[in-house]
Amino acid sequence: MHTNQPDTPKLVDRFGRHVTYVRMSVTDRCDFRCVYCMSEDMTFLPRAQLLTLEEMATLGRAFTELGVTRIRITGGEPLVRKNVIWLFRELGRLPELEELTLTTNGSQLQKLARPLRDAGVRRINISLDSLDPERFRRITRVGELDKVLRGIDAALAAGFERIKINTVAMHNRNDDEILDLVDFVRRRNMDISFIEEMPLGEIEHDRAESYMSSDEVRERIETRYRLLPTTETTGGPSRYFRIADSGSKVGFISPHSHNFCESCNRVRVTTEGQLLLCLGQEHSMDLKRVMRSHPGDMERLRETIVNSMEIKPRGHDFNIDVKPVIFRHMSVTGG
Ligand code: 5AD
Ligand code: SF4
Repeated sequence: MHTNQPDTPKLVDRFGRHVTYVRMSVTDRCDFRCVYCMSEDMTFLPRAQLLTLEEMATLGRAFTELGVTRIRITGGEPLVRKNVIWLFRELGRLPELEELTLTTNGSQLQKLARPLRDAGVRRINISLDSLDPERFRRITRVGELDKVLRGIDAALAAGFERIKINTVAMHNRNDDEILDLVDFVRRRNMDISFIEEMPLGEIEHDRAESYMSSDEVRERIETRYRLLPTTETTGGPSRYFRIADSGSKVGFISPHSHNFCESCNRVRVTTEGQLLLCLGQEHSMDLKRVMRSHPGDMERLRETIVNSMEIKPRGHDFNIDVKPVIFRHMSVTGG
């Protein structure tokens, strides 16, 4: 089978949405314990339950043969997975893949930025919620700001085409740093996205109290900068603006206040090889079982993925006030 032939099965769901983007979580582990993401005392999956890196590479191949052109590697913290650079190299070689990206907390970038760039990663997202070391520690519970800032410098030096900072905006935690963070990216010719907190997994911190809408964040930024709308879209819940007089963009990821499900072009693969058809719903397909019971059977794997399009739900149903209905943590589903 070759993907350029017209009869190639493509990933189109019951609502006509074309899936071209896969997010793959390569580990549920992380060296941080961010308050909105993890509980203080997390139990991680036993290693035998995780997909091997080889299995992940096989999945990457199957997806790209089905018309997927973008893969984002997430976690947990992807860069704490042993030998993960091998996976980046394998995926980086897939002929149909147009874009290989990574979401990271930055803690390992000082040594891994260059190998990632060499493996073919052209853009990365780095999480950063505060520029104050003590606060940074409070939000991540254990993280060291300095290490992340050195990681960001290494990424800048490694020559990625674009680096984007991801910031979860939270009342009483970092809302007074929004303009500082925008200045930080502006000075370095990076981009930034502000994320509304999502109710994934049970954690100790009070989400209803910290929740901050994208509209509020945008108002803050517009007290200093003019934001020019762009037409850019990733098919997800983000809208992007360019800061006037600058190459930097500001994005708002708004799973609550803006509905984006009609244009959803993505699926996720969990660390355990479950194909999740929607971040906000439980619909899934067990790809690990298929790969382990029929090793090497690419056709069966592709067929399973194609068939799973039948169960991609119309949309999610997040609500910050009651819940969580979704008990998976972000670290398992990979954002
Ligand atoms: N809501 C919103 N963002 C979250 N992240 C992790 N958990 C949540 C959540 N519950 C963010 C991280 C990172 C990105 C991948 O997802 O901070 O920036
Ligand atoms: Fe780790 Fe990212 Fe979760 Fe923070 S948000 S605990 S850095 S996976």
